[in-house]
Amino acid sequence: MNLSTSPADEPVLVTGGTGHLGRSLVGQLLERGRRVRVLARLPGTDSRVEWARGDLSTGAGLREALAGVSTIVNAATFSPIAQRGGIGLADFFTSPSAVDVDGTRRLLEECRLAKVRHFLHVSIVGLSDEAGALPYNKVKLRGEMLVRQSDLPWSVVRAGPFYYLLARLLASIRWMPWWPLPDAVMDAVDAADVASYLIECIDDGRLGLREEIGGPTPMTLPELARQYLASRHLRRRVVPVRVTSRTAARAGLVEAHGRRGATSWREWLAAHADEPKGAVRHTPRPAAAFTTGRGGAK
Ligand SMILES: NC(=O)c1ccc[n+]([C@@H]2O[C@H](COP(=O)([O-])OP(=O)(O)OC[C@H]3O[C@@H](n4cnc5c(N)ncnc54)[C@H](OP(=O)(O)O)[C@@H]3O)[C@@H](O)[C@H]2O)c1
Repeated sequence: MNLSTSPADEPVLVTGGTGHLGRSLVGQLLERGRRVRVLARLPGTDSRVEWARGDLSTGAGLREALAGVSTIVNAATFSPIAQRGGIGLADFFTSPSAVDVDGTRRLLEECRLAKVRHFLHVSIVGLSDEAGALPYNKVKLRGEMLVRQSDLPWSVVRAGPFYYLLARLLASIRWMPWWPLPDAVMDAVDAADVASYLIECIDDGRLGLREEIGGPTPMTLPELARQYLASRHLRRRVVPVRVTSRTAARAGLVEAHGRRGATSWREWLAAHADEPKGAVRHTPRPAAAFTTGRGGAK
């Protein structure tokens, strides 16, 4: 056994287990008969899960959640863009760091005390700290760097944008007759495919920067938008806007290098025809029963 792999009878602790990626990860772990503990601000009711009440922004409950845990997947985040389901002006200037930076720091410290053997951190492809980069990406990069600089056994998986978020962002501009979009690659991927890859990473226990994961075929944002419009029977004019590779990179529009997810954007759109069109949620809510995240809409 690799030193960093966790014995199957120990729970894997998942932060963000009530989120999009986390729900799929927890569902797939349960499906494989694994013990799963979820750190949640508002515990859910699924009795297959060990619920640990906690809050990364305050540190409450972290120590208790880590009791008897040697593997943790840190999939929590606070992204106003994802919560809102659209990009606002403020998102170009600021993004809160209480969860992704301060919370990650707290969690790392508690994991050090608990002698955790594998801290698997979920991150995003193409993160940049350059001037002009989205503040959320800068916050995510700061969180990732804390992990990479820690003396814990760590690994980092960087994923492309998730389909659910892309669908929400496109839904939020439905009112626009013309869609001017940067003509750059967006390597969007199904969160369920990322979850499957995370389980592989838990099980092989390899440390360090892991291969990135994107969708089956990297597509440009205008191509993705056209497939979205076709699937939703909408008539809008997609206007590709040429951007330099530097500008694209600052917006996180880059190709993932390494793994490719199995589910295409077209397949995901067909399976999620009823995705929400606008705001998502702003306050925690108890999680419903877990599914693997494959197939139907969430
Ligand atoms: N979305 C994307 O396109 C994308 C792409 C690549 C990588 N990622 C990364 O993948 C991970 C999951 O993203 P996602 O889109 O699945 O996120 P999400 O759906 O927005 O879920 C966020 C999760 O974080 C939890 N959380 C928020 N604030 C918390 C706090 N103070 N204490 C504890 N937990 C808290 C939420 O719990 P509540 O239920 O309590 O709100 C929820 O479970 C993140 O690391 C993200 O950066 C996302």
